[in-house]
Amino acid sequence: MSDASLWDERYRSADAIWSGDPNPQLVAEVAGLASGTALDIGCGEGADAVWLAERGWHVTAIDISGVALERARSAASNAGVAERIDWRHGDIATWAPERSYDLVSAQFMQLAPSLRDTVFRSIAAAVAIGGTLLIVGHHPSDLETTVRRPRMPGVLYTAEEIATLFDPHAWETLVQTARSRGVTDANGIPAIVHDTVLRLRRRQ
Ligand SMILES: C[S@@+](CC[C@H](N)C(=O)[O-])C[C@H]1O[C@@H](n2cnc3c(N)ncnc32)[C@H](O)[C@@H]1O
Repeated sequence: MSDASLWDERYRSADAIWSGDPNPQLVAEVAGLASGTALDIGCGEGADAVWLAERGWHVTAIDISGVALERARSAASNAGVAERIDWRHGDIATWAPERSYDLVSAQFMQLAPSLRDTVFRSIAAAVAIGGTLLIVGHHPSDLETTVRRPRMPGVLYTAEEIATLFDPHAWETLVQTARSRGVTDANGIPAIVHDTVLRLRRRQ
């Protein structure tokens, strides 16, 4: 089965997979930025793209799942921001952004390490000079909690690991951390997880 089929199947398994709320680290890092153009990688059901569009951003949002994108389109229409979002159905491993963006956001793209490095370098190349790259992922320490996480080796990453992909002469590090967050696991038990957060500003 292809990745696209696997993701479509996962999305079809429930009316909604995600909460419909924007990701908390996106809100924390981007709420204070002036709006511009944004690229949302692996946008899923579209909550982040809709939140950005509601704040005046012009968003390009890509996902490999057509099922997720249908829901995302519908969420944007319901929010009245459809005209500010360009939805793209595609595989980020082969899609080359045609332009640059003031913000590139990748939230919880848990790819195999060899593919992840290529994808993160490629999306970084789409950040405009002075623009922001925001990568958020599940921290490896989450595997010690009761919360459901991908179990494949190397798929969870620290901010320090992915920071090594970016030349400090070209990128200023604004945030490099593991930020804690309270959640409830599948059995309704409270847990603390950590989000890997890497926020960089492009210098050149
Ligand atoms: C863990 S979900 C995160 C969704 C959304 N960013 C969020 O935080 O709610 C990962 C998303 O990436 C998408 N995805 C996985 N591999 C992809 C690829 N190679 N290209 C584009 N999208 C991909 C999946 O379909 C899924 O919607």
